[in-house]
Formats: sequence, structure tokens, C-alpha cells
Amino acid sequence: MNIYLAPLEGITGWIYRGAVQKCFGGFDKYFIPFIKPNQMGRFSAREKKDILPEHNKGMHAVPQILTNCAEDFVQTAKKLEQYGYKEINLNVGCPSKTVVTKGRGAGFLAFPERLDLFLEEVFQNCPIDISVKTRIGTESGEEFPKLMDIYNKYPIKELIIHPRTQKDFYKIFRIWMCLKKRSAQEGIKYVITEILHRKKMSVIFRNSFRK
Ligand SMILES: Cc1cc2nc3c(=O)[nH]c(=O)nc-3n(C[C@H](O)[C@H](O)[C@H](O)COP(=O)(O)O)c2cc1C
Repeated sequence: MNIYLAPLEGITGWIYRGAVQKCFGGFDKYFIPFIKPNQMGRFSAREKKDILPEHNKGMHAVPQILTNCAEDFVQTAKKLEQYGYKEINLNVGCPSKTVVTKGRGAGFLAFPERLDLFLEEVFQNCPIDISVKTRIGTESGEEFPKLMDIYNKYPIKELIIHPRTQKDFYKIFRIWMCLKKRSAQEGIKYVITEILHRKKMSVIFRNSFRK
């Protein structure tokens, strides 16, 4: 089993990630909180500090992009490739109102056809591996099979599933009947998000010290 450090915007910045790595280590990947491509086509000061290779030394860091514009995604991916990144993660999970109302993050899931076209363009033009972090729908888990049909069309490196809908925000935890029914037929490698609560965390870290 691999264990990843989830991105938490405003919390797991480069200083936090560096401290976690130094004090505990043990994560197979460290996801960087999302980068939002802007009209200037430049990284913000926070984004730049977060992605600089010298701020991510000795760890497998993966930057994340939050956008519904394929051109912006590809342009940002190309810039990140120049910084040495070989994998990039698409955020279709952020439930916050300001993001969702622009059809980004989990808001993108309300437009499966647009998401499909976006992925088609992105997979044709992106120079590095793409993983996706998704919710199971906007309103209901019933949306998930249709989303999986779309995801299965593309060579997604890893599909990270946050098993809540956008409307659940961070509250209800839906156990994944929808996924269990299908998982045998899927070709994509899954990752499931779950916060490691203190007890579990100490077991994991104890085990990682034993290596
Ligand atoms: C404050 C905060 C910021 C977050 N920022 C991001 C982010 O930048 N990108 C992302 O994919 N997920 C983000 N998440 C979601 C988490 O990475 C994770 O998937 C989620 O909290 C798992 O939920 P659970 O353990 O409560 O089930 C954020 C969550 C919180 C609470």
C-alpha cells in the first residue's frame, strides 16, 4: 500500500511538507496544494515557492492544477515539466463555492461532456503524466458511473477518489457502493482519500521507522 500526503490549501505548503518529511518521512507522494492558472500565465508568489525544486528536495512531490480550461492546463503542465515534474494532478474535487460557481473543481463534474472534451484535449497535448483527483458527483453518487465511463477513456496515471459529492463538502462520508460494483472491470489504479486520524498516523509512522 502506498501512502500519500493529501494537499490542504493554506496548510500543507512547502514549509509544512518539508517539516513532515524531515520529522516523519514515510509518504510515497506529497501532493502540492492547487495552482490556479491566471490570465498573466505566471505562477503567484505562493505557487512559485511551493513548486521550486529546492523546496521539495528528496520527496516525490506532485503539483496539482485547478482549471476547466484545457489550454491553461497544458501550458501550466509544460512550465511544470521545465521545473522537473513528471506527474501533474487535476483537481476536480474542490467543493468551495467560489470555485464551483466557475465550473471548476467539483463544479466541473456537473458538466460531464465538457469534462470529457477537456480530458481529450489535455491527454493529446500534455507532455507529462496526469493523475486526477475527483469527487463522486455534485449532488449524488448516482453520477459516478457516468464519470467513470469518461475517466476510463483516458490513460490516467492514478485516479484519486474523494468519496463524497460536492454538496457533502467535508461532512458526510459515503461508502462506495457505486465503486465496489464496478471496480473489477476498471483498468485505472485507484487511490482513496482518508484523513489519517492520530491513532492510525502513529501506527503508520511507527511502521515507517522500522524500515
Ligand atoms: C482546508 C482544506 C484544504 C484543502 N485543499 C485541497 C487542495 O488544494 N487540493 C485537493 O485536492 N484537496 C484539498 N483538500 C481535500 C483534502 O486533500 C482531502 O482530500 C480531504 O480533506 C479528505 O477528506 P476526509 O479525510 O475528511 O474524508 C482540502 C481540504 C481541506 C479541509
